[in-house]
Amino acid sequence: MYLTQEEEKLFNGERGATYQKAIEILAALGDIYGADRLIPIKSAQIAGVSYKTIGDAGLEWISDLKGKVVVPSILNPAGMDLECWHEMGISEDFAQKQEKIIKAYEALGVRIECSCTPYNIFDNLVGFGDHVAWSESSAISYANSVIGARTNREGGPSALAAALIGKTANYGFHLDENRKPVISIIVEAELHDSDYGALGYIVGEMMGDKVPLFKLKSKPSKDELKSLGAAMAASGAVALYHVSGVTPEAGKYETPKDKITIEERQIKEVYSSGKPDLIAFGCPHSSVSELERLAQLLNGKKVKKEVWICTSRAIKNKHPELIKRIEKSGAKVFCDTCMVVSPASERFTCMMVNSGKAHKYVPNLCGVKSIMATTEECVEAAVRD
Ligand code: F3S
Repeated sequence: MYLTQEEEKLFNGERGATYQKAIEILAALGDIYGADRLIPIKSAQIAGVSYKTIGDAGLEWISDLKGKVVVPSILNPAGMDLECWHEMGISEDFAQKQEKIIKAYEALGVRIECSCTPYNIFDNLVGFGDHVAWSESSAISYANSVIGARTNREGGPSALAAALIGKTANYGFHLDENRKPVISIIVEAELHDSDYGALGYIVGEMMGDKVPLFKLKSKPSKDELKSLGAAMAASGAVALYHVSGVTPEAGKYETPKDKITIEERQIKEVYSSGKPDLIAFGCPHSSVSELERLAQLLNGKKVKKEVWICTSRAIKNKHPELIKRIEKSGAKVFCDTCMVVSPASERFTCMMVNSGKAHKYVPNLCGVKSIMATTEECVEAAVRD
């Protein structure tokens, strides 16, 4: 891959070991995937934040880096609410390690906002056609598909490397030819709310990393697209999808001839019932409208089980009245973290979720049984004795 003179200097270590390591990572990826050059990015979203997932080795790696990011960069959810971790049942030892990780990122100039929905927090991170380096799979899917920005499925280290250099290697979803849909998904059902997560749960498994084009009967909201993409990125490796008449690039392409039809029956089969001891919302992190809906559904009720609602700290801070209305029911609103990346959920035996992504990850990453249900059913289960 071609490097400019300036990039060569970084590569040769003229600005120190951290920048050298960073550009080595980008150049290695570029060489593997046949990139011609590095291209500037507008922002980075960096995974590898929870101590649960990166452990001591990750903490040590980040702590050894010396430098500053050069583009707006934010973090993925950490392993705990950075303020209310006691309330989550997190141990002192875990909390100390988690705080060290956060401090190490802060020293590199990364904004300490730990969220998988950065597009709901800051306006300056991403727009149509922008190149970015994001690494949380649902955020990648949203950026590529719903916003029409361009990012590969970055790992935590490569997103951090891109943030330090301000560039990423020009391959994969940065190039027009890889954004074309290759298979049509015809959905023979009217979908609503968590049905989109259930659809993503099914289709992701069928797709692997292919780019699908959906033909839907219903018109999804941005939150519903968020759920669809998150689930497909978890049960498969889908980083970009199009929805006819809805997403910004769908009209650019011909409808692929290969097709799969999804029936209502298949969507319904993803749902089940049971006796959860934790009911968790907010995968991906809840938007203001999702919180508003939960506040309405919980209005005048008291929860009888542990209920967590995960969102970003920026949204929680900006909407104190809304949060109070939710908390009046006894439900807990946690920030900076989620039910999957926090070890706190591991003490429960059965989690009910309204998210296709959480439904996929909870059994494997938390060792907890998962039940997927609609948002209304989750609230009903929460307030039932
Ligand atoms: Fe976000 Fe955690 Fe789900 S990072 S997408 S809430 S698994």
